[in-house]
Amino acid sequence: MKRAAKILGVLAIMLVAVACAGITATIGWRPFLGPKARPLTNRTFEATPERLKRGEYIANYAAPCMACHTPHDWSKRDAPMIPGMLGAGGPFPLTNVPGKLYPPNLTPDKETGAGTWTDDQLARAIREGIGHDGRALFPAMPYDNFRHMSDEDLASVIVYLRSLKPVHNVVPKSEIIFPVKYLIRNEPQPVTGPVSAPPATADAVTRGKYVIERAGCRDCHTPRDSHGQRIPGLDYAGGELMEGNFATVSSMNLTTDPTGIPYYTKEMFIQTIRTGKVGGVRELSPIMPWHVFRGMTDEDLGLIFDYLRSVKPVKHSVDNSETPTYCRLCREMHGLGEKN
Ligand code: HEC
Ligand code: HEC
Repeated sequence: MKRAAKILGVLAIMLVAVACAGITATIGWRPFLGPKARPLTNRTFEATPERLKRGEYIANYAAPCMACHTPHDWSKRDAPMIPGMLGAGGPFPLTNVPGKLYPPNLTPDKETGAGTWTDDQLARAIREGIGHDGRALFPAMPYDNFRHMSDEDLASVIVYLRSLKPVHNVVPKSEIIFPVKYLIRNEPQPVTGPVSAPPATADAVTRGKYVIERAGCRDCHTPRDSHGQRIPGLDYAGGELMEGNFATVSSMNLTTDPTGIPYYTKEMFIQTIRTGKVGGVRELSPIMPWHVFRGMTDEDLGLIFDYLRSVKPVKHSVDNSETPTYCRLCREMHGLGEKN
């Protein structure tokens, strides 16, 4: 009897050990322990006119916080923001997400917005993915891009957020489905050292990488697998399906392969972003945020183009004017999918 109990005990320990090894090798311990978060500090960011100006540019056009954290009128071609609601949060424009997602109210309203959150709570949310209440943010909030945002850009954005008109707007809490709401606890990563932007003397591709990462072009233009991970080898190759009340479209291949946009010049690229029309003719869907990025400077748009020219060309046909068919490369349905 005693012997049987001993064997059972050993077996139980072995089972636990196997389960532990399994968890360590697969989803990791974060789903159980909670996200990796550093303690908050009491740092504050001094408001200067330079920071305010820079923060306004980044938050409205270059990063672009306001595009997600403001409700839009999607029935219009350039999806204008609802007047008086800048930064006040609202529904996420894409519907193919695992659950209900709401970018929160970032205005300084004390009851419904960020009015009582500290500067470091905001800083940690933006670059490290931890909400003011300690939760892991769903990575549609692009903190993995913002992790590389310089300390000065971060300070500027927060100074700008503090200058927004407080808007009383109750935004529901996001509800992510099981098990995704636990799995996302693997995503947040603390930023512990100083972060700076490449100097003005750096080459165009290095500077372009910084600008394009902050803009988040890759989030839509690199297709993801069913676990939300970017498919290796398909950087900027398009095909990611976007669903929302603006209609359903796929992102395009931005590489220099013949199936991408090899024929673009820098002038044509800037004109496309400024007008939302390719070659002055083909109208782009408002889910491609040209109406947001059109506020970027020629310099920043030019750097994005320089970076895109350096990306590995990928053969991947995508065409939104054709009926969607299955693509074995990006594992999504899109026009010309059967050709890949
Ligand atoms: C692509 C859309 C998108 C962009 C761009 C974006 N956000 Fe968010 N943001 C979200 C979503 C969605 C959430 C909510 C995530 C959740 O509930 O898990 C969020 C959450 C946040 C939070 C957490 C609030 C809290 O509860 O503590 C802050 C702060 C924030 N965003 C600030 C910013 C700033 C600043 C920028 C620009 C530098 C930005 N966001 C850009 C979509 C976006
Ligand atoms: C929210 C998702 C999203 C983001 C972010 C995004 N795009 Fe797009 N983009 C799209 C979609 C979808 C299309 C296809 C639109 C259509 O065909 O109507 C597109 C189309 C384009 C085109 C047109 C290509 C062609 O000739 O057909 C260009 C150029 C482009 N995007 C560049 C960019 C750049 C540069 C950025 C970052 C500054 C960016 N996009 C960010 C979704 C996005």
